[in-house]
Amino acid sequence: MALHLGDTAPDFTAETTAGTVNFHEWAGDSWVVLFSHPADFTPVCTTELGRVAQLSAKWAERGVKPIALSVDSVEDHATWVPDINEYNHTTVDYPIIADPDKAVAELYDMIHPGEGDTSSVRSVFVIDPAKKIRLTMTYPKSTGRNFDEILRVVDALQEADRGECATPVDWKVGERIIVPPTVPTEAARAKFDDVQEVYPYLRTARIREDAVGAGAVGCN
Ligand code: BEZ
Repeated sequence: MALHLGDTAPDFTAETTAGTVNFHEWAGDSWVVLFSHPADFTPVCTTELGRVAQLSAKWAERGVKPIALSVDSVEDHATWVPDINEYNHTTVDYPIIADPDKAVAELYDMIHPGEGDTSSVRSVFVIDPAKKIRLTMTYPKSTGRNFDEILRVVDALQEADRGECATPVDWKVGERIIVPPTVPTEAARAKFDDVQEVYPYLRTARIREDAVGAGAVGCN
């Protein structure tokens, strides 16, 4: 079954390099980046898992827990991790799910047979503290992901939740936000600072420092 934005992330229990994990319990009140890769002892994956480890402090600053998955065994993961650490000059400090029976990969639709074989592709799920799926990405096996972009998306989601707003192309922390089309300009002036109406449908603004939004908002 396809998973859509706004769906509750399916729960599961699996063996990982950090022991048995019940996914929802492990996630707790954190944001989660669940990402799959095709196989252990492969070059692109070795660079990706290392990059996620190098970004450890950045995930923590944002209240994000990363967790990886491939359809290999815990024993294989444990044998591979020293190579990841050595090559990337880092320490993998997040769990890697072992999914040899493909139960989790199938639950999250991470196996795309058109991609060559029946291992998982490079899926990403950003899941919020309410366990809602907030972003999905699927990359082919041949292309390593850009985890700085995933951090940027987490920033944008967290800012959109706080300000009940949207963010424009390439938005980064500190930049102007977009007033959602659902909010009339007068209401926007009461809610945001420095509202600028470029077109009636394109208004930019700044979120007030003390804004504490109600969570995910739609823009339609
Ligand atoms: C890799 O991680 O290098 C890789 C894995 C599967 C197919 C192609 C590349």
